[in-house]
Amino acid sequence: MNNRCADYPVLPVFTRRWSPRAFDPRPLPQEKLFSLFEAARWAPSSMNIQPWCFAYALRDDVHWDDFLSTLLPGNQLWVKNASALVFIMSDTMSDYHGEPKPSRSHSFDAGAAWMSLALQAQSMGLATHAMAGVDWDAARNILHAPERLQIEAAIAIGYPGNKDDLPEALQERETPSDRRPVAESAFNGPLI
Ligand SMILES: Cc1cc2nc3c(=O)[nH]c(=O)nc-3n(C[C@H](O)[C@H](O)[C@H](O)COP(=O)(O)O)c2cc1C
Repeated sequence: MNNRCADYPVLPVFTRRWSPRAFDPRPLPQEKLFSLFEAARWAPSSMNIQPWCFAYALRDDVHWDDFLSTLLPGNQLWVKNASALVFIMSDTMSDYHGEPKPSRSHSFDAGAAWMSLALQAQSMGLATHAMAGVDWDAARNILHAPERLQIEAAIAIGYPGNKDDLPEALQERETPSDRRPVAESAFNGPLI
């Protein structure tokens, strides 16, 4: 529960989800992480191509330090207490009658998968925090990701932690943010 207030009625999952930085550094069982990937699996995508894929590290596995090292220092500061670090990637090409063709919707589709993952996590008492503060070249190298894949974001996943354990500057920001009003994003007819 938090202080967010919707202007129009919506399911509580939307306002309850937010991106904390305070994590309790407990191990996350792999099956729980796979429930999150399962939720992502059912996201809609253009032609049902499902252009997303994930690469993950759990905090107690051999990949953790490498994955963490690809984040910009400001993110490493708090992600070190997360339980899993996931990269979501999308295929920039789709196979169209056997011919690879640039995909128009790979990022849009991957975005739907990320949101499904985030909402599933929240329903399981887990917090998620997406990041673009990544050294993309380092990430591509560590992940062995071919150029055809776009690395969309890194996602920290973990158990909510204690705000007081964060560095002071981050403690001030550790609160759910607000949004601009719907009327500033939704237009009846052409854009103004
Ligand atoms: C693609 C993407 C990239 C982001 N990059 C970062 C980041 O590098 N570091 C960070 O602390 N937060 C990052 N965020 C978190 C956003 O700042 C956050 O989602 C936004 O302020 C809305 O807040 P909320 O998720 O708590 O509702 C990112 C979020 C998204 C979706």
